[in-house]
Amino acid sequence: MRTHYCGAVRSADIDTTITLCGWAHRRRDHGGVIFIDLRDREGTVQVVIDPDTPEAFKIAEEVRAEFVLKVVGRVRARPAGTENPNLPTGMVEVLTRSIEVLNPSLTPPFQLDDENLSENVRLQYRYLDLRRPAMQSHMRLRYRVSKLMRDHLDQNGFIDVETPMLTRSTPEGARDYLVPSRVHDGMFYALPQSPQLFKQLLMVAGYDRYFQIVKCFRDEDLRADRQPEFTQVDLEMSFVEEDDVMNLVESMIRETFQGAIGVELPEPFPRMPYSEAMARYGSDKPDLRVTLELTEVTDAVKDVAFKVFSGPANSANGRVAALRVPGGASLSRSEIDGYTEFVKIYGAKGLAYIKVNDVAQLNETGLQSPIVKNLHEQALKTIMERTGAQNGDLIFFGADKAKVTNDALGALRLKLGHEKGYVDGRAWAPLWVVDFPMFEFNEEENRWDALHHPFTSPKPGHEELLTSDPGRALSRAYDMVLNGWEVGGGSIRIHREETQEKVFAALNIGEEERRNKFGFLLDALQYGAPPHGGLAFGLDRLVALMTGAESIRDVIAFPKTQRASCLMTDAPNQVDEKQLRELHIRLRNPGGATAGASAQG
Ligand code: AMO
Ligand code: AMP
Repeated sequence: MRTHYCGAVRSADIDTTITLCGWAHRRRDHGGVIFIDLRDREGTVQVVIDPDTPEAFKIAEEVRAEFVLKVVGRVRARPAGTENPNLPTGMVEVLTRSIEVLNPSLTPPFQLDDENLSENVRLQYRYLDLRRPAMQSHMRLRYRVSKLMRDHLDQNGFIDVETPMLTRSTPEGARDYLVPSRVHDGMFYALPQSPQLFKQLLMVAGYDRYFQIVKCFRDEDLRADRQPEFTQVDLEMSFVEEDDVMNLVESMIRETFQGAIGVELPEPFPRMPYSEAMARYGSDKPDLRVTLELTEVTDAVKDVAFKVFSGPANSANGRVAALRVPGGASLSRSEIDGYTEFVKIYGAKGLAYIKVNDVAQLNETGLQSPIVKNLHEQALKTIMERTGAQNGDLIFFGADKAKVTNDALGALRLKLGHEKGYVDGRAWAPLWVVDFPMFEFNEEENRWDALHHPFTSPKPGHEELLTSDPGRALSRAYDMVLNGWEVGGGSIRIHREETQEKVFAALNIGEEERRNKFGFLLDALQYGAPPHGGLAFGLDRLVALMTGAESIRDVIAFPKTQRASCLMTDAPNQVDEKQLRELHIRLRNPGGATAGASAQG
């Protein structure tokens, strides 16, 4: 139908007659002459309709935003002074000979170039939202990124193998999405939380290098960086150790950033043990661009009069830590109150602080704070020395269970760092976090949970700890972190059945449950499973970081809301009785708690 893309018309086309198809982005009436910015996926071009072509002019008068048009015309240079050097087509315009409305449009619910659209409206009319140039460029970048990664893996001998969507539960730690079976009364498939077990079985089957760009499904609390269905770049390799996997995927990420957005990431990425990340940043995915750091003071406040500190300092899972803010004494009272409210989101009960007026005077004159009188001189001295406090600084404190202290001060560190400019100016700060513990203690259920997943191998020499002291056993897992986002995670796996059994035992997964849930894996491990390991990247997160999007929803064509619904199709929805009967399902609450309401929001 057309000879050129709208966005591709250039000065070289001057004096040729071309045919364009696209959407009316904007129409302006300029005293007798009509201008239409005609848009397609390559960009916009200015189309001029002159009253000298009365038929075309009459049609152009009726054109409204988002009408679909076919325009035939001659390319000419824009009159001197009307060029737009900011637009690739800005030196030219198309003088229309004929125009055809291929399809009119209802008035769109929003202007495509409005910068402040409500996300709900965007999601409801996603097909219009996706027309916007910003979204078009996100989708193209996403395609580029997956193509570059696919090519890199192909060149390195990986093959793409598809794994089932209707499967049984894999324990990645989230709830499953279940699919009822019609054929098997009372039975359910689970949608995969990841292809973890299948890729391990492909290694047992001798495929050596597998990858897949694949949807994963997790029913968990959603956030800006979490969707119920998301995409992994998933891979697995045989006869490898940590460095083999890490080096390969690190070079893949470096090449992908180079190829997709022209960014050179450092080589190699630094590595940091989990324990150091938690101690210094309160997080296992630290944003290293922020220069503020936590300081351990638990040991220094064990015997102070201030119970808020000495309580957690003397309890088994307690942590008291300081966050020194250089020059922070200038923070206002209301700013400090704001931060105190902020840390409560993370469970903190308060946010003690000391303003450092004169670090040489370890008393209420030198150190301005209601808590100073309840901290003895030795404690104050240690705090000042360890934090490296200078006059004019402010020191915040967290005192609670270690998890609360870390979450609260870790989040405060990021907020203060980005809001007040405590950053080192780097655009990209990648990091490998290594030496994760095998398990973390689940206080609510009083048992150990796998920190990664139960197929992660313990470090050499840590097998004994699995039974004797599970909390101290370290794993062969590694996470790739970029600017404070966990973009990928993986590990060297367990390839021997007896080790796998030990890990299941430590996780308190009984004999029967082991056979029932993982019998096929335990069997496979006994038929010559090779040593193997791998990793999976969150594709949505990588692309969101590259675009600077705040949420991964902005790089997914048809995402779900925070409440896991699709505002465009209105999924999830109720189904009719006949369908339920075929699936052997009777609802506990017919009509649902939200009967009549849609799944919106
Ligand atoms: P993991 O659970 O760490 O590992 O997931 C790998 C990566 O996937 C991304 N990710 C998500 N992205 C968007 N929404 C979500 N809900 C979501 N959950 C995870 C993250 C994460 O780093 N089978 C293992 C991988 C392995 O061991 O090889 C796994 O799934 O970027
Ligand atoms: P209070 O003794 O409750 O008046 O608290 C004195 C100071 O300690 C206030 O600045 C509180 O914000 C702070 N505070 C209270 N609980 C904690 C806590 N768990 N961690 C850090 N600071 C706290």
